[in-house]
Amino acid sequence: MIKLSDFSSIFIANWKLNGNIEFINEYYQKLLPNPNNCTIVCSPSIFLNRLKNNSNNIFSGAQDVSFYNEGAFTGELSAKMLSNENISFCLVGHSERRQHFKENNETINKKSINLIENNIIPIICVGETLQEKEKQMTKEILKKQINECSPINSNFENTIIAYEPIWAIGSGLTPTLEEIEEVHTFIKKIDTKYNKFKVLYGGSVKASNSGEINSLKNVDGCLVGGASLKVDEFNKIIS
Ligand code: 13P
Repeated sequence: MIKLSDFSSIFIANWKLNGNIEFINEYYQKLLPNPNNCTIVCSPSIFLNRLKNNSNNIFSGAQDVSFYNEGAFTGELSAKMLSNENISFCLVGHSERRQHFKENNETINKKSINLIENNIIPIICVGETLQEKEKQMTKEILKKQINECSPINSNFENTIIAYEPIWAIGSGLTPTLEEIEEVHTFIKKIDTKYNKFKVLYGGSVKASNSGEINSLKNVDGCLVGGASLKVDEFNKIIS
């Protein structure tokens, strides 16, 4: 398993359902990973092995994994299959999967177990809706999501948490820096077990705000959607 403590920050590009072969070839030619940081590109799974890079700080990550290990589940990819292809990271529980594919904390927990058993680091995504934020339920929601999604054997070396407020995704809106720091500090204090976890922020991160967000004490990197599709912009974010 990759040693997360070797990196000061972790930056993840989540391409979602975007990209094609020309785009990828150009992207990987132009990508300039920062040697102090861990850079992970979560491309659509069919392109996972297009990243031909021998350096030890840039990785391909999957955007999802099957709940099942094998069997009659047409269209699925298991954690073992990802591990066979040398994939070291996988997003789980992204809000788009919770919303469109009815994922819940229980399935996310099981997927994370399957990943850890196959030496793949799950990046467990959590976040509140705008309504929940307005009702001041953010902390309660996050605590429930994190406690229910994290496998019993998860620890700071085999699991990453990504805080993505749902209302900030693709909206151009972000919480204030104070709010981000408060939430990340809260997450690390939910239980002593989470103290040393890497906690990433996601939601409308771009080159113009990534520096100040990532400089917050309890922010250990960023999970980037739209802005990661422009390699020049993503290069600025990871620099
Ligand atoms: P945006 O950066 O486009 O807001 O998306 C965030 C996200 O969903 C990353 O997983």
